[in-house]
Amino acid sequence: MTVVRLTEVARVHGEGATAVHALKGVSLEVAPGELVAITGPSGSGKSTLLNLAGGLDRPTSGTVHIDGRDLATVRDLAALRRRSVGYVFQDLNLITSLTAAENVMLPRELDGVRSRLAREEAMTVLAEMDLADLADRFPDELSGGQRQRVAIARALVGERRLLLADEPTGALDTHTGDEILHLLRARCDAGAAVLLVTHEPRYAAWADRVVFLCDGSITDSTDMSLESAR
Ligand SMILES: Nc1ncnc2c1ncn2[C@@H]1O[C@H](COP(=O)(O)OP(=O)(O)O)[C@@H](O)[C@H]1O
Ligand SMILES: [Mg+2]
Repeated sequence: MTVVRLTEVARVHGEGATAVHALKGVSLEVAPGELVAITGPSGSGKSTLLNLAGGLDRPTSGTVHIDGRDLATVRDLAALRRRSVGYVFQDLNLITSLTAAENVMLPRELDGVRSRLAREEAMTVLAEMDLADLADRFPDELSGGQRQRVAIARALVGERRLLLADEPTGALDTHTGDEILHLLRARCDAGAAVLLVTHEPRYAAWADRVVFLCDGSITDSTDMSLESAR
């Protein structure tokens, strides 16, 4: 079953003369195991699309389904988001008064997982990110790259089926960037669906499909498996 499905989704910010048509009737589906890269110029609607796909924002028209459920009719959207969707934001949104491990545990604890199990899950994913030794440090005791990896660990913890990443490699050196793509790809191969916004063609090469956004519309879509078969 499709993990996320956007059907004719439009999003207008503001009203009247100052209205911005950020998305203009976009349709997109991502299946389990699929990594879709979204690329396009600044202001083309990439972040808007990602926020709508994860239920952080509501469309002006059109529908968004996650795991077959229409987000417009879901009662506890926050719970569905916590359980099913992992986000990596451009600004990291780490909580500065919590350690790395506590930041990663938080979404699981909010979801009713006991502290001890949440801590185990957090340590597992922190170890995958090569951060086990830094689990008890606070964000301002970590480097930029380490903070980025904590944010990604927080997005990956638990059994999220949909991962949304908005330029997750933005501030990172190419080595760390490659590591992160490797992790996203591994989650994908384990059955998650990944939507990745990226400016960098080298990262789009990890995708199954690359979607080009321009001025709020999808202007092109390239199936990378067909590309490499040529
Ligand atoms: N909250 C908002 N209020 C008004 N305009 C917005 C808002 N969010 C985004 N926009 C506008 O919508 C368009 C698409 O923005 P965005 O989705 O952030 O693009 P991208 O991520 O591709 O740079 C831009 O013109 C941006 O200025
Ligand atoms: Mg953006």
